[in-house]
Amino acid sequence: MTDKQRKILVTSALPYANGPIHLGHLVEYIQTDIWVRFQNQRGNHCTYVCADDAHGTPIMLKADQMGTSPQALIEQVSQEHQRDFSGFMVGFDNYYSTHSEENKHFASLIYTRLRDGGHIAKKTITQAYDPEKEMFLPDRFVKGDCPKCGAQDQYGDSCEACGATYSPVELKNAYSAVSGAKPIEKESEHYFFKLGDFESFLRQWVDKHVQEQMVHKLNEWFESGLQNWDISRDAPYWGFEIPDAPGKYFYVWLDAPIGYIASFKNWCDKNSVDFDEYWNESSDTELYHFIGKDIAYFHTLFWPAMLEGAGFRKPNGVFCHGFLTVNGQKMSKSRGTFIMAETYLKHLRPEYLRYYFAAKLGSGIDDIDLSMDDFRMRVNADLVNKVVNIASRCAGFIKKKFDGKLSGQLVEQALYNEAVALAEPIAAAYEAREYGKAMREIMHLADKANQYIDTAEPWVLAKQEGKEQEVQDCCTMGINLFRVIISYLAPVLPQVAEETATFLNIDGFAWDAIQQPLLDHQINKFKPLMQRVDEDKVNAMIEDSKATLAAIAATSPAAPVAQKTELEKNPVAEEISFDDFAKVDLRVALIVKAEHVKGADKLLQLTLDLGGDTCNVFAGIKSAYNPEDLEGKLTVMVANLAPRKMKFGMSEGMVLAAGPGGKDLWILEPHAGAQPGMRIM
Ligand code: 2FM
Ligand code: ZN
Repeated sequence: MTDKQRKILVTSALPYANGPIHLGHLVEYIQTDIWVRFQNQRGNHCTYVCADDAHGTPIMLKADQMGTSPQALIEQVSQEHQRDFSGFMVGFDNYYSTHSEENKHFASLIYTRLRDGGHIAKKTITQAYDPEKEMFLPDRFVKGDCPKCGAQDQYGDSCEACGATYSPVELKNAYSAVSGAKPIEKESEHYFFKLGDFESFLRQWVDKHVQEQMVHKLNEWFESGLQNWDISRDAPYWGFEIPDAPGKYFYVWLDAPIGYIASFKNWCDKNSVDFDEYWNESSDTELYHFIGKDIAYFHTLFWPAMLEGAGFRKPNGVFCHGFLTVNGQKMSKSRGTFIMAETYLKHLRPEYLRYYFAAKLGSGIDDIDLSMDDFRMRVNADLVNKVVNIASRCAGFIKKKFDGKLSGQLVEQALYNEAVALAEPIAAAYEAREYGKAMREIMHLADKANQYIDTAEPWVLAKQEGKEQEVQDCCTMGINLFRVIISYLAPVLPQVAEETATFLNIDGFAWDAIQQPLLDHQINKFKPLMQRVDEDKVNAMIEDSKATLAAIAATSPAAPVAQKTELEKNPVAEEISFDDFAKVDLRVALIVKAEHVKGADKLLQLTLDLGGDTCNVFAGIKSAYNPEDLEGKLTVMVANLAPRKMKFGMSEGMVLAAGPGGKDLWILEPHAGAQPGMRIM
């Protein structure tokens, strides 16, 4: 490596302090940790900070429900988060909290500078207000019936049943999810950050510092106009009070990214590092944020604009990643695929997942899938059968026959040179966050090392007299190739790397150290570095996930929502005549086919048989049913509803279902004996 040592500051998104870390979170923390470890292994000075995102209404209300204070809640969650991160070997230099003195200082400083620069506006707005709890309600805390499809118990911003988005005032039968009371509309003055002031700066900045795939999205945002951003919330609110506005608090998303600065400042103070060198406007250190694509708006527009307006340096890169699916679907509590970090660690070794994610990660924003079978087979094939096998095939001979001493020569210098020559392409792949590419190169090298040992057959030579030197030479070659491979894998497998360093009797894995092979060198006894992933353990983890989540659901305090009967929630509609009713032609229908609809989150496509005639219906029941469970069942449909043209095709009727939506949705099924096509009266 010829570059001078780079000074780099890296962050991952700050997790909310009201829930556990799960495998979805870990895509990001593992991705970031690998990058940071790689940078340090290369000889750069890379610092990795994070914190809990500890403010906001959900945390305030959760503490309230639990009968505890927000401080006590965020303290407990912080311990749990840190336990989980360390279990996955995510090596933060500092893990802090946004509820800190440093963060209060920087939030106030940045706000004051923005205000003095003329970038803060005030405006009176109308919002939903809970008259019982005496608080304004964020959209997620207003519930009611969807104004479009009528599904009950939908949130104030969007309907889980039909996908419609709307504002809380449009909900029918609205109620506060906090107290159950009917919300009223109330006015209040809010503070806004004038994002539009920074449009020309942002247009230029975004082009150079955000992935191409995201720039596309950002251009859409620019085209639809940069709106002022509401940064204040009224008391009661859990956060920092705005310096010149008693009773008004910074919205959680205002002080969250400032938490990156605050965590770093806290680390600087503890380690006598010059904070300003990293954060002054013309800093030549590097700053990178790893985030999920869902929070790009905050990090690629609000955040650089806030930094620009307040005279701080801007990030060199915002690296967005996709989401995690498990077995091809969204993580699901009932299927046991909503896996918490803690549950995983009870059954499986963290490095399995670190490797699997690395093998799947690229620099883009595509989602990645954790398929349990593929996970097990990939880790076993690559790490156990290929990589660790190289050492186990050679180490025993060196220990037993040569007292642990490697020979003084490399008999296949060309092969070793070839292995070392991969250092730069692999480094380039890590640097570009193309970890999948790096893993493929490394596994290709491991194949070559195994082929070499297969051909050299030390176990055959070991039985032949006079071939001692050949045995020692060939095993020395194998062990040197193993060292190169582990050096390349060290950012991904820190524990394997550490145990390998002990086995090889070396200090560690500085990136360039492999230039010098280990010759005439004493090594230690080899201990198995990794066991195979056991299918039973994977299954036990899934079962444990189901059980753990069910137990949490059973013991967590119920939300203090006034429990209403079904009829209270949805009173019986206005009376109609029999003739009105008879206009609706209800039929027994046989579900002959049920399929997923490409690109639709909520819909299943049903082919219904009405006793000879078939019709096509799109039903918003995907959240509650697997298609294969529906086929062959009878149901009830409205057969004379005017056909509706939908994005995915024509829907020629409607199946009847009860329930508020999401998983709680039940389609109607006639008793056995009813025949497809029968009219229901
Ligand atoms: O989306 C989230 O989980 C937020 N807590 C992320 C905050 S990242 C940063 F801005 F603090
Ligand atoms: Zn709806």
